[in-house]
Amino acid sequence: MSRIAYVNGRYLPHRLARVHVEDRGFQFADAVYEVIAIRRGAFVDEDRHLARLTRSRGVLALAAPMSEAALKLVIRETVRRNRVGDGIVYLQLSRGAAPRDFAFPAHTRPSLVITVRHMRIADPRLVAEGIAVITVPDQRWKRPDVKSVSLLPNVLAKQRAKEAGAYEAWQIDAQGNVSEGTSSNAWIVSAADEVITRQADTSILKGVTRMAVFDILARKGLRLVERPFSVAEAMAAREAMLTSATNGVLPVVRIDGAPVGDGRPGPLALSLAAAYRAFMDGEA
Ligand code: PDD
Repeated sequence: MSRIAYVNGRYLPHRLARVHVEDRGFQFADAVYEVIAIRRGAFVDEDRHLARLTRSRGVLALAAPMSEAALKLVIRETVRRNRVGDGIVYLQLSRGAAPRDFAFPAHTRPSLVITVRHMRIADPRLVAEGIAVITVPDQRWKRPDVKSVSLLPNVLAKQRAKEAGAYEAWQIDAQGNVSEGTSSNAWIVSAADEVITRQADTSILKGVTRMAVFDILARKGLRLVERPFSVAEAMAAREAMLTSATNGVLPVVRIDGAPVGDGRPGPLALSLAAAYRAFMDGEA
């Protein structure tokens, strides 16, 4: 079945879907986005994703393209037309098309694009095997808390990971601490069974999956510590893992080629991955 994309009020065959050559998302990365997982036809944590979209566009002073209720309807209609059970919905909101000028144009209509695709969410094979990460310098702008499409450093880092045979790159800040992955949040488990992830200030994206895992930790009575951790600490950690809407919870078993713990997925990461899967299935 052919894919359908939503572009500014119209549902179009995916291969014909276009935005203008002077769209500010294309020319300036003057745009924000969200990725929401779809599990058995239902959205995982949709409200938190839409709240983050509102926050991201607020930081850029981007107008809402429509009410949130209308947006939810359009998302549902796009997913319905694509008949996707398990996959993702991608939303991108830009400041629209205008003659090229750095400052905001006086009049533009925001441009909204929604695409949907099949995907294996929180792939059980990756959970069972665990994944490898490499480390790279964090070369991003100073507001990674905004989910903007300004993703060139993330693209280059992910490509380096791929070339190194790794799944993700952990970006390292000027102090030698892990900020986050290119498209995921980073976690470790200490010898004292503390589950550690960086505090969500302006240095990282406040992951929706990260928040869902906070809820799981609270339910399980596990100890959460929000603070930066260094690469050396991560390499010496008992366990490591990453989280994102597409991956759920994934055990990290190698950092820059060195095994984490015994080099196999840790028990805590596996139990959090299972709990997150149960949460996703509960949404469905
Ligand atoms: N990325 N950090 C970064 C830089 C991200 O791009 C993402 C998500 C996350 C995890 O956030 P969440 O749990 O809300 O997915 C953290 C999405 C999946 C993407 O760009 O495809």
